[in-house]
Amino acid sequence: MERLKGRTILVAGGGGIGSGLARRFAAEGANVVLGDVALAGAEEVVREIAAEGGSALAVQLDGSDEASAKAAVALATSRFGGLDGAHINFASFVDQSPDMGVLELPMADFDETMSVNLRGYYVTSRAVLPALLARGGGSLVYTSSPAACKGEPVRVAYAIAKAGVEALMRHVASRYAVNGIRANCISPGSTMHARLEAELGDDMKEFCYGLALIKSRLGRPEDIAAMSALLMSEEGSYITGQVIGVDGGVVMRS
Ligand SMILES: NC(=O)c1ccc[n+]([C@@H]2O[C@H](COP(=O)([O-])OP(=O)(O)OC[C@H]3O[C@@H](n4cnc5c(N)ncnc54)[C@H](O)[C@@H]3O)[C@@H](O)[C@H]2O)c1
Repeated sequence: MERLKGRTILVAGGGGIGSGLARRFAAEGANVVLGDVALAGAEEVVREIAAEGGSALAVQLDGSDEASAKAAVALATSRFGGLDGAHINFASFVDQSPDMGVLELPMADFDETMSVNLRGYYVTSRAVLPALLARGGGSLVYTSSPAACKGEPVRVAYAIAKAGVEALMRHVASRYAVNGIRANCISPGSTMHARLEAELGDDMKEFCYGLALIKSRLGRPEDIAAMSALLMSEEGSYITGQVIGVDGGVVMRS
């Protein structure tokens, strides 16, 4: 498939899911700019994409810093002539401890979660949108989480940030539809990759299986990438303003 041939897409945040996004976009013909605070990991993925004949470059990106996000967008437009899409995907996971609720979570961890997972998505949107507008339109995809809409006794800051991202997406979709810009959230369920395989114990993996309707396997980065590639392509051109669960049926939206 070459649905994305000639398009340039910024992936903001590599890691497990982001690396899958970059690989899929490149395999479908896009020029990919993969940004991450951890440059070495992004560079490794870019080397793998190049070895497969794809077009990609890595950039150091702190998505919580507007100047850094603008520099990544400037690199994409100068190297490839413009920007057609962005998937904002990075996250801080300081708020993951099962012992932490609203009373226990240190305010420093709350602030970091807001700074990266919410403010970061906001300032990266501010960096990306002018380039999409200059191109006459494009597709903006955000990675959300079921935490945004499920009540949970844990991950309070993470959930607040993801709920905010969904509100941001709805704003972008409604304000810029007239300019040919579409915005959507993908809400992954438990999506396994090397870091989580290493970090999660058997109990936690069992818990993840228990959340979804599909029990035969957990999610994979490829599942998220397949949905995002659709949203980046002409085939997704009538989809905007949506939160799309790719979660094995954890959340059933009406
Ligand atoms: N994996 C899951 O089960 C799951 C489920 C629901 C939602 N999500 C969401 O999916 C996204 C990706 O998660 P993942 O599981 O691939 O995590 P991951 O840790 O593998 O990847 C996150 C990446 O973000 C990068 N990053 C962190 N702070 C950054 C910053 N300020 N600027 C740029 N890059 C930064 C990290 O270096 C890392 O490479 C996140 O938004 C997460 O909330 C994941």
